Amino acid sequence: MNDTVPAIELKGISKAFGPVQANKDISIRVMPGTIHGIIGENGAGKSTLMSILYGFYKADAGEIYISGRKTDIPDSQAAISAGIGMVFQHFKLVKNFTVLENVILGAEEGGLLNNSLSKARKVLKQLAEEYELSVDPDALIEDLSVGHQQRVEILKALYRQADILILDEPTGVLTPAEADHLFRILDNLRAEGKTIILITHKLREIMEITDTVSVMRRGEMTATVKTSETSPEELAELMDGIHEKCVEFGEADGYVDYVRGANIAGFKKVADAMLAFGVV
Ligand SMILES: Nc1ncnc2c1ncn2[C@@H]1O[C@H](COP(=O)(O)OP(=O)(O)OP(=O)(O)O)[C@@H](O)[C@H]1O
Ligand SMILES: [Mg+2]
Repeated sequence: MNDTVPAIELKGISKAFGPVQANKDISIRVMPGTIHGIIGENGAGKSTLMSILYGFYKADAGEIYISGRKTDIPDSQAAISAGIGMVFQHFKLVKNFTVLENVILGAEEGGLLNNSLSKARKVLKQLAEEYELSVDPDALIEDLSVGHQQRVEILKALYRQADILILDEPTGVLTPAEADHLFRILDNLRAEGKTIILITHKLREIMEITDTVSVMRRGEMTATVKTSETSPEELAELMDGIHEKCVEFGEADGYVDYVRGANIAGFKKVADAMLAFGVV
């Protein structure tokens, strides 16, 4: 593994949905064997960027480099061939199939033949032991907890030999105990040299597990910093400069939501109005 070449490099990625510029000229380098957080408010463009990397959306402009090599990713099959796996917030498992069947679905030429199943069973057992990813291979997905379903999604990616794993808001659906377990799994994956991109809007998670963090705000990448060299306050400021200003006024999440999306000048107007009406 060459530590100086990024596992992933995106250069100048832009993507619009009609009038909405979801990604504006975004560049990012993700180093191998690290957990790289992407943080930003709702609608900042995080999922769009990762969906481009996973071949779900086609960028209007920009280039993707995997381990230094320029790579076209027109669809998720191409992403998988490039060693990328993605765990979406809404899982894509077949509910009335077993864990084993879901893991090999689409990955094996022979479909659900017996020899594919027994090979998958062995691989699954190894992966479970290696990464604390144990789950009953014969259980139906619909009978599993959300945390276990998520493990199946991770197993699916690893079964396809992903070196790069993207997780989009993975803890949103988990209990705190399940989230702790997920973080141990991610730790183990990093220790094995895998590269992980963790999308979240929770500062605590960024501080706890990432090596590097990139901040997005309204379609732009506002900064990439080493986690050890930043703080929740600095990240909050980078995510939404308005937030800090609101907190200075002694309140109030409702107002933060109200002014979110406005610029500082817009905020000042609201703040002045709040003052005028004696709210603060
Ligand atoms: N398929 C789509 N069609 C139209 N607009 C879209 C589409 N996908 C995303 N957008 C818009 O692009 C912008 C970025 O959305 P995106 O889902 O990438 O943000 P996000 O950072 O992942 O937000 P969240 O934290 O809510 O998941 C938003 O304004 C969103 O409404
Ligand atoms: Mg999203």
